[in-house]
Amino acid sequence: MSQPVEKILQKKYIDKDDIRLLLSLAPAVSAGLFKHSHEVKTLQVGRKVFFRGLIEYSNICTKNCFYCGIRKDNQRYSRYTLSDEEVLEAALYAYENNFASIVIQSGEQSSKAFTHTIDGLLRKIHKETKGQLHVTLSLGEQTEDTYKRWYDAGAHRYLLRIEVSNPALYAKLHPDDLRHTHKARLEALSLLRKSGYQVGTGVMIGLPFQTISDLADDLCFFRDLDIDMVGMGPYVEHEDTPLWEYRNLIPPVADRVDLSIKMVAILRIIMPDINIAATTALQTLDSNGREKAIYAGANVIMPNLTPVKYRDNYLLYENKPNVKDQPDETRKSLEKNIRAAGDEIGYGEWGDSRHYKNRSSEIAK
Ligand code: 5AD
Ligand code: SF4
Repeated sequence: MSQPVEKILQKKYIDKDDIRLLLSLAPAVSAGLFKHSHEVKTLQVGRKVFFRGLIEYSNICTKNCFYCGIRKDNQRYSRYTLSDEEVLEAALYAYENNFASIVIQSGEQSSKAFTHTIDGLLRKIHKETKGQLHVTLSLGEQTEDTYKRWYDAGAHRYLLRIEVSNPALYAKLHPDDLRHTHKARLEALSLLRKSGYQVGTGVMIGLPFQTISDLADDLCFFRDLDIDMVGMGPYVEHEDTPLWEYRNLIPPVADRVDLSIKMVAILRIIMPDINIAATTALQTLDSNGREKAIYAGANVIMPNLTPVKYRDNYLLYENKPNVKDQPDETRKSLEKNIRAAGDEIGYGEWGDSRHYKNRSSEIAK
């Protein structure tokens, strides 16, 4: 490892300039960074990966983010919503296979009917799994009442990516209207925290117009917010979106993968006890991408449990992998790859973020 890098890694507080330097390391010299973040992971959270069964509940979305394949104005996909039975079946699969936790994700909707259906589903899942299956929601921006209602119905974790922490860049990637404001997104994250959730956020990496300095800011943003969980992955272009036009501005695939792994490694170093996901987008650009992220510091993976017949319609980006794989196949191949990487799977454990637990016990003192 070069001397300046070694010096940074020994610091008590790694600042934004240090992060920028680490993000700019050439691939040939980033091995030292990954080795260090791997040691931090081993020491702080152990070599364990937790499964969160992913249920893509509905691809109906009222928003029009410029990067996303299921944006409202994209007519190419037929829109679906899973039935209660389909959700329960997937949840029970997770429960019976000792996943201990699921994520219910959807395009953003806020009708009364939607809020009510999710409430009912949470209660059913709680009952059928005797409160043993933890549920994370990833259902976009909602009102404070809705967050509280779903919390009371049994959801205790919520994922809401800030997407990019720079407000000017956010404005470039979203329509200019009241439905898509950076301010509302920030407020949502604080309401979620206030409602009692373990809060997760995240960003996309390698977007058009995004700089290394923006990415360093993203990592500082997670730290300033004292976030419990992070899911971040490379931006993957999609032909049916307005951002496709700017595809010549994005870094080549190998660089986006490398940057994403570096983001995971640095985050593990600056926030040693949080949960970090190895994302599907990473696997889309590199078949070995999730394993690389696990080595560098990630400790959560989200096997897809959405019924296979719907998956072609939940393509946020192109070339999404495993759209035809049945849950058993996915589980077995993940098991094999995670073990090959030297980690074990935290079957039957909720895998709450240690950061959340540590913070809660600080507050209780
Ligand atoms: N590439 C990568 N990630 C994307 N997302 C949406 N569109 C894309 C894309 N083209 C991510 C967003 C969103 C999450 C559900 O999927 O970060 O929060
Ligand atoms: Fe909808 Fe989320 Fe896609 Fe934006 S990123 S269009 S809110 S599904």
